[in-house]
Amino acid sequence: MKDRIGQLMADVAAAEFSGEDEVEAFRVAYLGRKGKMKDLMAAFKEVPGDQKRVLGPMLNALKQAVEDKVKAASGVSASKVKASGLDATRPSGGVPLGTHHPLQVVRREIVDIFQNMGFAVAEGPEIEDDWHVFSGLNFPPEHPARDMQDTFFVERNPDVLLRTHTSSVQVREMEKREPPMRLIMPGRVFRNEAISARAHCMFHQIEGLYIDKDVSFADLKQTLLHFARCFFGPDTDIRLRPSYFPFTEPSAEVDVYWGLKTEVDKRITKGTGWLEILGCGMVDPNVLEANGIDPNVYSGFAFGMGIERITMLRYQIGDLRHFFENDRRFLNQFAGER
Ligand code: DAH
Repeated sequence: MKDRIGQLMADVAAAEFSGEDEVEAFRVAYLGRKGKMKDLMAAFKEVPGDQKRVLGPMLNALKQAVEDKVKAASGVSASKVKASGLDATRPSGGVPLGTHHPLQVVRREIVDIFQNMGFAVAEGPEIEDDWHVFSGLNFPPEHPARDMQDTFFVERNPDVLLRTHTSSVQVREMEKREPPMRLIMPGRVFRNEAISARAHCMFHQIEGLYIDKDVSFADLKQTLLHFARCFFGPDTDIRLRPSYFPFTEPSAEVDVYWGLKTEVDKRITKGTGWLEILGCGMVDPNVLEANGIDPNVYSGFAFGMGIERITMLRYQIGDLRHFFENDRRFLNQFAGER
């Protein structure tokens, strides 16, 4: 019997398998109801007591060797899987998805509102020349916005610069298209400003332009009122304050009525209840003319708004820097926003 066990030990050590079926057949051959271990145990019962003390440990070692072999060949044995409570048929917990950036959520919503009014989306380059950012928009040569302090010039070349506003896309589109045109132009802009809670050297704007015959200031006002009501709610009121931009005449700034219910309302509206959201005006005839559109036939309106500013209002965000730091504790608060 000693020899028999020794032989089986050698067989077990030498066994090789090429599939799960073979592992299972091996297991049954040794440990099964009619297996080799069963035969050995039956024979073991018959041997004299003094021999049992030697053979017993040998039999145990053989059984262990078989079990180890099966386990090594099949990874985790079936009985172990059951014991661990692992349920391979259970549906998975799902893949955690990222969140949309709040600036994207707001940009998309604004663009959607204008698309529903028949505006088409246009985009232009971020690296621009003087004509598209300033001269083509009726900026006089000595205008302070061209100053080194505001504008990033590329390699000190006064004609290669990062656009300071998306109004440059107006010029590009007027070059390309014939009126009528109704465009909404989102994009990134750059200004040489110190970074703080309220200012950044890079931010986002959305520009609007509508040129056709007989476009009036009333069209501008109704378009912006409709936008404000879609975005801020159906009871929203707006007001227009006279302002100045080189490329529009007359020009205005638009405020929405925010209310004065809370201390925060008082603080952010400086006690007035009104909040500025954008600049706008009737396209200056000089701009139409400079871009090959006859101001005696056509007129138009334009507007421009900062996406960060509107996003800060919508979500009550107090510090502009949050948008660009990629802190997941900030970004995860927008899970579920479309
Ligand atoms: N470009 C202006 C800015 O960056 C915003 C603006 C004002 C755009 C009036 C316009 C407009 O199209 O008509 O501050």
